[in-house]
Amino acid sequence: MAKTQSLRAEPVIQQILAGEYRDFGPTPALGFNGGTPGPLLKVRQGEELAVTFQNRSGADSSVHWHGIRIYNAMDGVPGLTQEPVADGEDFEYRFVAPDAGTFWYHSHSRSWEQVAKGLYGPLIVEEATPPDVDADIIVMIDDWRLGEDAAFIDDFGAMFQFAHGGRLGNYAKAMPSQSTVRQGDRVRLRLINTSNARIFPIDITGIDGKLVALDGMPLTQVEDFGKIMMAPAQRADIIADVVEDIQFSFQTREGDYGLGTILAEGMNPSKRSSAISPLPPSGIMPPSGEANRREVLRMQGGAMGGRHAGDDIWSFNGISDLQDEPWLKIDRGTSVLMTLVNDTSFPHGIHLHGQHFFEIEADGSVGPLRDTSLVDPGESRDIYCVFDNPGKWLLHCHMLGHAATGMRTWVEVI
Ligand code: C2O
Ligand code: CU
Repeated sequence: MAKTQSLRAEPVIQQILAGEYRDFGPTPALGFNGGTPGPLLKVRQGEELAVTFQNRSGADSSVHWHGIRIYNAMDGVPGLTQEPVADGEDFEYRFVAPDAGTFWYHSHSRSWEQVAKGLYGPLIVEEATPPDVDADIIVMIDDWRLGEDAAFIDDFGAMFQFAHGGRLGNYAKAMPSQSTVRQGDRVRLRLINTSNARIFPIDITGIDGKLVALDGMPLTQVEDFGKIMMAPAQRADIIADVVEDIQFSFQTREGDYGLGTILAEGMNPSKRSSAISPLPPSGIMPPSGEANRREVLRMQGGAMGGRHAGDDIWSFNGISDLQDEPWLKIDRGTSVLMTLVNDTSFPHGIHLHGQHFFEIEADGSVGPLRDTSLVDPGESRDIYCVFDNPGKWLLHCHMLGHAATGMRTWVEVI
């Protein structure tokens, strides 16, 4: 029996501004089932999820299940894996979630506008034996560009933003799924950066713990952490003991920006003393020996790049946007070592649909499994992927305005 759920995309009125800005009032936004973020979708690893997507958003839309190694036809990419779902229409998504971890779903149609306005939500796939914690807390982090009336500033699609860092907000916050914990609780925090373009270097105080997963994928060893650098769409899971109020913030040029707090109220009388251990492994095999193929993906363009062909500002290897033919045709099971080269003046978070890849560290050692890799200007990074999921898969920058203006391509696994 599949787990069933419906997701209705629709206009919503949401109180986004909080704290001292709350009085500016609520924001007309887009959401699922009456709010943004949309409802928590939760399945067990290996369980099938059936979602009736009801598009009442007022425009074409679709849903992408970010990070799930999904059947290609369910991947939610209009023009590549399905027709766009017209306003007023429904679409049945049905898939098995093969990996446990922290994922999210979001619109994949005009995502630079629809995701910015709120069409996203958390998707959690539970381990067969979840780690022993007192609270499992989802912390979505976003930023919004709002005017004094609390409405979105209507400059969606502005080329000057897309040509630079993307559409950055002027207000940011964390949205923890619960607002209190107890001192001494052991908690799992699932951070998800849902912003269009902002890289959050997240600082968390009030806890003593370990980083246990990135992009939904367990780390082989738990790690100490300081600032957690999170590009758009990236996730990080932490398991930690609560020492005092948990405060989230990030550093901006003007200083520390508070993203929110989970209050520590009361005391857990049975605080754990056990060490924090790694999550059960994903089963995705790390590289052993040479890859079957080597490829280079060069990010080019932007305000400084001098490439301005129509709306396309950005490119991969000099080619903007999706062509009729895939960039790569890959035989199923082939391992590819891909060098992501950032020849632009801005950072990019490169996301591959349908499979996870290992980041390879500068010294050649095998880094974390991810689905989105942040590459700074002038830098390059090798990633290693065994393409074993057949279908047509998008490969794009998750700074959504960059993808909309050329920084996307696709590969076909046959
Ligand atoms: Cu999170 Cu192509 O998407
Ligand atoms: Cu980009």
